[in-house]
Amino acid sequence: MGLLCSQAIPAVVLLILAIVGILLVVLPAKDMEKPPENMYGIVLDAGSSHTSMYIYKWPADKINGTGIVTQHSECNVQGGGISSYAGKHGGAAKSLGPCMDKAVKDIPKFRHRQTPLYLGATAGMRLLNIVNATESQRVLKEVGNKLRSYPFNFRNATILSGKEEGAYGWVTVNYLLENFAKSGFVCRWLNPGKAAIGALDLGGASTQITFETSEKIESEENMMELMLYGQKYKLYTHSFLCYGQDQFLRKLLAHLIKTQGVKAQINHPCYPRGFNTSIKLGEDVFDSPCTKDYRPAQFNPQMSVSVVGTGDYLNCLNTVKNMFSLRNCSYSKCSFDGVFQPNVTGSFMAFSAFFFTHSYITHLTNITITTPSRMKEAIRLVCNMTISEMTQRTKQSEKYMKNVCAASNFVQVLLTERYGFNERLFLSISFQKKAGGASVGWALGYMLSLTNMLPAEGSGWVKALVVGPWASILVLFILVLCIALGYLVMTYRNMTTKEDMV
Ligand SMILES: *[C@@H]1O[C@H](CO)[C@@H](O)[C@H](O)[C@H]1NC(C)=O
Ligand SMILES: *[C@@H]1O[C@H](CO)[C@@H](O)[C@H](O)[C@H]1NC(C)=O
Ligand SMILES: *[C@@H]1O[C@H](CO)[C@@H](O)[C@H](O)[C@H]1NC(C)=O
Repeated sequence: MGLLCSQAIPAVVLLILAIVGILLVVLPAKDMEKPPENMYGIVLDAGSSHTSMYIYKWPADKINGTGIVTQHSECNVQGGGISSYAGKHGGAAKSLGPCMDKAVKDIPKFRHRQTPLYLGATAGMRLLNIVNATESQRVLKEVGNKLRSYPFNFRNATILSGKEEGAYGWVTVNYLLENFAKSGFVCRWLNPGKAAIGALDLGGASTQITFETSEKIESEENMMELMLYGQKYKLYTHSFLCYGQDQFLRKLLAHLIKTQGVKAQINHPCYPRGFNTSIKLGEDVFDSPCTKDYRPAQFNPQMSVSVVGTGDYLNCLNTVKNMFSLRNCSYSKCSFDGVFQPNVTGSFMAFSAFFFTHSYITHLTNITITTPSRMKEAIRLVCNMTISEMTQRTKQSEKYMKNVCAASNFVQVLLTERYGFNERLFLSISFQKKAGGASVGWALGYMLSLTNMLPAEGSGWVKALVVGPWASILVLFILVLCIALGYLVMTYRNMTTKEDMV
């Protein structure tokens, strides 16, 4: 009996070994391996109002597939956007110092040289480029030289086109939601027919709308075709320069000054009733290409004007509506300003200032915004609040709160009346700041594209993983399992026949 038991031991050991082996191979690698060494990438998002630095990371042994690259950390550069340093030599470069120093500490030293570093500037620099192209090139060169002085692999500092900004935002959203390909059990596979979602981005100086459409895109400049993971995407995208939140508010002030005349006091229907603030005609209103059409023939840019709020919801709404031009559409249909747009379709994610405005309205009113009419109801309440009510409820400064009524009406009119999200379609918009721990914006999509981490082909790497070493090891362990089982059965048979003989 004892002899037989000892005969069975190797088989049992083998059996356990085989099972453990199979589990090791089959279970998600993430849970079993020690954390792999990471690779890193840095993107500086140089917006019109400020610059943010994002550090991304991914396992060194993996490149393809969605959900692989995650956000490691972020840093907000203090002070204004790089375009605000026009005419101030050294200012833009200096402002990036603290965040770049943080990146040096955040990323392990042995990875510094391999870490790609990009700076992408958006609408703030596009505007400066219109005003003074030499100066915008000088600022870019200055920040480029600063970034080159760090131990990273500096690639470039450029101004993104509106089209690129829209498309990279769309790529980010769908990458984070794993809409391209799904990382699963053992290998990654293509996402069969999971619909991509649209991206709505609202910055300080421009706003972008990007979505997949099967409709004909009548304007060549709004069409973009992407090949990702073996699937072709036909995107509609447009970036409206001067329709970012800050520039829109500036245009609103310019419009009010134009209609009321240049005088010491201007009434603002969107500011809280009784709120009184002083602005400079030049730096706060007319020093921007966006307000060129409203500029009075003669004015003193240094002149201060007090702007007094009247908190008049309907007047504010109508003024905001009139800031969008519905004339001069040379296509079958337009959103506004003569820009072609197919009907919005599918789900959307609205981020950056869309998210903040939505969140302020919700905080201030406790109303859950599900439809455009609910949104209007909430905005009416917001526009009737005093500035102190608003600052107390949100704990945010007057600087932001004075604009919530105007910004909310702007977002509401833009989304529902211009883009065409009706009562039903509005439900398909989710307002979000982050997804999967990463900030939603163009930065991640930009890095993924520039580092070739988004394969155009799909089937190649899926097959490679299946027939690769992984499959052979699995087969080997199954073989061991069979041998062990066979051996056990034989030992058991031997045992019973010997017992029978006794
Ligand atoms: C543009 O900026 C440069 C400084 O880089 C300045 O010398 C020049 O006068 C500016 N031009 C205009 C038209 O403002
Ligand atoms: C707004 O403030 C300015 C300067 O502080 C003052 O002259 C003006 O009378 C104020 N207007 C209102 C309506 O309070
Ligand atoms: C990633 O995909 C490309 C083709 O799209 C392939 O050549 C490459 O080997 C893949 N890399 C990994 C690590 O799977």
